[in-house]
Amino acid sequence: MILKSDNKISEAIKYLKDDMVIGLPTETVYGLAGNIYSKKAINRIFETKERPFFDPLIIHVASTEQAKEISTYWDDTCEILAKNFWPGPMTLILPKSDSIDDVITSGLDTVGIRLPSHPLAIQLIEKFGPVAAPSANKFKKTSPTSAEHVDSEFPNVPVLDGGECEIGIESTILGIQKEKVIIYRPGMLDKKKIEAVLKSSQIKIPVVYQESPVAPGHLKHHYMPKLPIITEFKADSTDHIPHELMSNQAVWKLESDPVIVARNLYKKFREFDKNQYSSIYLILPKITDGDAWKGVLNRIEKASTYFIGK
Ligand code: TXA
Ligand code: MG
Repeated sequence: MILKSDNKISEAIKYLKDDMVIGLPTETVYGLAGNIYSKKAINRIFETKERPFFDPLIIHVASTEQAKEISTYWDDTCEILAKNFWPGPMTLILPKSDSIDDVITSGLDTVGIRLPSHPLAIQLIEKFGPVAAPSANKFKKTSPTSAEHVDSEFPNVPVLDGGECEIGIESTILGIQKEKVIIYRPGMLDKKKIEAVLKSSQIKIPVVYQESPVAPGHLKHHYMPKLPIITEFKADSTDHIPHELMSNQAVWKLESDPVIVARNLYKKFREFDKNQYSSIYLILPKITDGDAWKGVLNRIEKASTYFIGK
């Protein structure tokens, strides 16, 4: 059910107050949001998504003050990152405060926190308070980037219509430690941008890539559409692919700008799924800036079944 009226934020808040979950637009992907202080709502998020309870949720806030209230650690690194990249596609993993239910964090002593930039998300959180929200898709499937995507998967969930997501893939997740910043999940806020901001603030700690040892959200297969995906590296054209194979395939020669590819990635996966193709064939461009592509490649690799020329 898509909420489109002028007072859709008040409507959405009514549902949240009733311990229901709602579809929340953010600039990355749509979230499935619930009240962090309602056990019922938190359980509903896991049930609706069919997500195992061992995979923790992230909390969305509308200010740095709210972030500090739900965590117990805030150093200069956090301050600089928040000042430069919030509101925006960055999630910080920080030690959690006691007020945060263990079900949200799957028993971990840390919590993921993000301040999104979508105006409807900010308005809703300012009026209602922080909400827990994973991406609004069934566990391991493709994330939604429009209200219609959420509605097609969860017709009974009220969705706040905020148009199409500008970024298109999920936020960059950062583990903050005294001696380093760890990129647990790459996204469109990339390593070079983080390094540049830390450097200009005289913070001399490295930024490293490392899959989270504790978050099972980082599974080998994730973000998958229904159709199998074949991904080809280093091809300039489709001339070498046998014609019979091409005729029934959705072929997408990815644009050279990762920002454009990210914005369209999940929308395309969903469009391809709807048609009578047998598979999806992605052709990657020559990649010169590995950091800028890292987030998009991470999603493509986890969504693909076969690779050619990797
Ligand atoms: O852009 C986004 O981050 C979107 C929008 C809705 O904000 N949300 C999102 O949530 O992608 P989700 O639940 O689909 O992905 C969050 C990831 C999960 O893989 C989870 O395992 C990981 O964050 N995570 C959550 N809490 C964590 C923690 N304390 N330590 C490490 N990883 C954590
Ligand atoms: Mg997700």
